[in-house]
Amino acid sequence: MSINGLSSDNYGAPYNITGNLKIPDVSNGKIDKNKLNGVVYTPNWIVKTILDYLEYGNNNISNKKIIDPSCGDGAFLKEVVERFITDALNSNKSISEIKNLLEQNVYGIDIDKNAIELCRINLTNIAKKYGINDVNWNLINNDSTNKVWISKLFKKFDYVVGNPPYIRIQNLGKEKRNKIQKEWELCKSGSTDIYIAFFELGYYLLNDMGKLGYITPNTYIKTSAGKDLRQFIKNKKILKSLIDFKHHQIFENATTYSIITILSKRHEQNTFELYYGAPDKKIKFIDEIDLNNLNDNNWILCTNGVLVKIKEIESRGAPLGEIANIHVGITTLADSYYIFKNPLLKEKTAIIKLKDGREFEIEKNILKPIIKASILKSSEDEQNNYVIFPYKLKNNKHIIIPENELKEKYPLTYNYFLRIKDILLARDKGKPNPVAWYAFGRSQGLDTSFGKKILTSPLNKKPNFIVWEKEDYTFYSGYCIKYSGDLYGLVKELNSSDMEFYINHVSRSYQNNYKSYSKTFIKNFGISNPKIIGEFKNKYTLAKKVNNKNKNRDTHKGNKRNNKNNNKTIGQTTLTNYLSINSNL
Ligand SMILES: C[S@@+](CC[C@H](N)C(=O)[O-])C[C@H]1O[C@@H](n2cnc3c(N)ncnc32)[C@H](O)[C@@H]1O
Repeated sequence: MSINGLSSDNYGAPYNITGNLKIPDVSNGKIDKNKLNGVVYTPNWIVKTILDYLEYGNNNISNKKIIDPSCGDGAFLKEVVERFITDALNSNKSISEIKNLLEQNVYGIDIDKNAIELCRINLTNIAKKYGINDVNWNLINNDSTNKVWISKLFKKFDYVVGNPPYIRIQNLGKEKRNKIQKEWELCKSGSTDIYIAFFELGYYLLNDMGKLGYITPNTYIKTSAGKDLRQFIKNKKILKSLIDFKHHQIFENATTYSIITILSKRHEQNTFELYYGAPDKKIKFIDEIDLNNLNDNNWILCTNGVLVKIKEIESRGAPLGEIANIHVGITTLADSYYIFKNPLLKEKTAIIKLKDGREFEIEKNILKPIIKASILKSSEDEQNNYVIFPYKLKNNKHIIIPENELKEKYPLTYNYFLRIKDILLARDKGKPNPVAWYAFGRSQGLDTSFGKKILTSPLNKKPNFIVWEKEDYTFYSGYCIKYSGDLYGLVKELNSSDMEFYINHVSRSYQNNYKSYSKTFIKNFGISNPKIIGEFKNKYTLAKKVNNKNKNRDTHKGNKRNNKNNNKTIGQTTLTNYLSINSNL
């Protein structure tokens, strides 16, 4: 399992998140927690909930085949075996019959040999309780994503259950990454996760009557990497229920936003039951949702009434992303070496202090004032932060100051950079910076971060958009909204209760009720103030005239390329788009 802030291990195994598989002491059927860091198990109440929603209980389950394709030490299979034996005993099966049925119908796979051994011990102990000995368990130590091998098991199961590993594809070795992306249709997207492959393989393991129940991250509901999976589920009409845990945490030692997905091949409907789950183990029915009412780019999991209001907000006036430009701030990838609070400003130089106490004197005029958007409180908030900005203007664009020029014009800064060169080179996992070794880690925001703007933190509990009028300030850690009309009129709408309502439902949730205010989520918010839209419309009319003029001129010259550029600079959206949205204006 990939755990926020810590690196993921080879398998996403719950046993060790450090990357080195240690050999657990399995003699007592338990993992020695002292030896292993970051142990993450599926809590038993989650396992029970999944099995209950699959109706895996007292209904002749000892004749049904079940598999956990990433079984670990058997969090699911232990409960399965308990229910299985109880059901078989209730239908008066003999001990030897039950032994045979367990061997035929209960399967587990895990890539981790130790986990499989542990699982075997755990299942054997449960069977023993009922006087069932020497079960030859179907526990397989193999890689479930190996299609050649696993396809032998396709279509064989009535139930697929589990808590698949969560590992972002970039964190797998190159060979494994390529193999998974080649073999699994739903994993073609660049930034996919291995758990998505487990959905696909899980579906193929099911027979025509089969049902699947997984607990996974809820990311697939909203991300573009999850789009193919969402489409797959929708097209096949197999989504029976979703239990969204929203920001609630259900795993010990791991920060994950989880969802339970119940699929059924016999469902054959486009509606599903939506539930919200909470750590107090209460699961609340929310609504019956029609997949056709969900936006293909982002499934918003809330009542139909809320969905209607969201649609109203999105379709009114003009979307924020159409009338304004939304940009991220600068990204140095080494903030504590570029950005300084209260540097000592002298006449021509400035003294900067590193966290380790070292002080350096650098040229004052290479510094720019900078705002940290994520902690900005008001338009008057003087944070007194400065960034070393090794760029110069050329044709109104910031370009890097070449090394020789930097050395000559800013010798003190150049010397400072040399002293921290190792640290700068180590940014971005040591990948060489194509601009210069002393350039910011990313080139975003170099031009767009200056000027008048509205700033927001990327995460907020409530909308907190702040107008920043001082044009010479750049910013980091957040987003800015650039709009050439009345910023105060616009900010009023952005800080409205409608925005709070909208983001609360549309956006991603984080712990302590924080919500993402990233561009993806705010760009479709409908601005209703006719004055703001009017200003925009006027600009567009003007833009249209300029555009037509250029078009005529370009047609004369036969220069189409020039025209394309003009289109781009005017508003970054197409007029047709705008007018089609605002036909009522
Ligand atoms: C999140 S843990 C879940 C373990 C257990 N099912 C539970 O719920 O506690 C994921 C498991 O997937 C296993 N795993 C990772 N990659 C795998 C793969 N390619 N094939 C099979 N198992 C894999 C890990 O070893 C680990 O035991």
